[in-house]
Amino acid sequence: MSQRLGRVRATAYPKLTLSLRVTGVRDDGFHDLDALVISLGQPHDVLEAYAVPAPGGVRVEIDRDSPEHVGIPTDHTNLAFIAAEKLLVRAGRSGHGVRIVLRKRIPAGAGLGGGSADAAAALLAVRRLLEVDVDDAGLLEIAAEVGSDVTFCLRGGAAWMRGRGELIEPLEWPSGLAFLVAVPPFRLATPDVYRAWDELGGPEATRRVPAPRRIVSLLPELRNDLEPAAEALEPRLVEFRTALEAATGRPAILAGSGSAYVVPVNAARDLPQLVTDVGRRLRVPVVGTTSVTRGVRVST
Ligand code: C5P
Repeated sequence: MSQRLGRVRATAYPKLTLSLRVTGVRDDGFHDLDALVISLGQPHDVLEAYAVPAPGGVRVEIDRDSPEHVGIPTDHTNLAFIAAEKLLVRAGRSGHGVRIVLRKRIPAGAGLGGGSADAAAALLAVRRLLEVDVDDAGLLEIAAEVGSDVTFCLRGGAAWMRGRGELIEPLEWPSGLAFLVAVPPFRLATPDVYRAWDELGGPEATRRVPAPRRIVSLLPELRNDLEPAAEALEPRLVEFRTALEAATGRPAILAGSGSAYVVPVNAARDLPQLVTDVGRRLRVPVVGTTSVTRGVRVST
């Protein structure tokens, strides 16, 4: 075999949905979206891909020392596994062995697209590792098959996201926009939230949150049509949001399908104090974070 043994490391950044409108339900049950999404610098995952001589195929391991490893599958349901395997098959390299080790910091079931970010990182890392002959267009095709958010995560930065998520219109966007992310002790499964949205008859967002000052010309208000569905499905969310808003003195918006909430913060220098205060009052994981210009950073 000519395969070069080695390792490629990729940082996988979470995505934040700043505005999410559901514009319709498709025949396949998926929902058409009109959403504005950006990449955040924290909390990020780190994926390491190793070329191994045997056995052939993909193996995923979760670093048990990583903060968010609980409940992350390592089998064929892990999106990084699915992405890496599809890439090997497409490139005719299924016999090659790839070991993927994931250090998880992005909480699962929080609406931050952690599994999709890992899948995008796996595609870029494995392509580099094995010098796989699949171009960016090929990766985008695989991404759309793996999951609705993987297309955005491959590129990251900022974009309008349409269709079920696979149609991406990149945007010029300031980096360094500041947000506080708070994760409640309960998590939500995305399909359940969309089902609740269907059962409620397709509600529109009832709340609007002022956008950070630097982006008001593009997006004056943040809204999330999934928020009423998520809060109906998991009533403790309302209590959590209310407590978070009281602790920060600012309005919060649900991240994607939840369960994390996000508070826009106009001055990044206010973040450290806010994070300390909110962490102390709510006793949940709280992260201060800023927007970044890509979805994955690959290094060897
Ligand atoms: O595409 P992905 O596997 O990430 O989607 C997870 C679930 O979220 C889908 O099974 C579907 O129930 C729901 N979904 C949706 N419409 C979208 C994206 C996701 O209904 N645009």
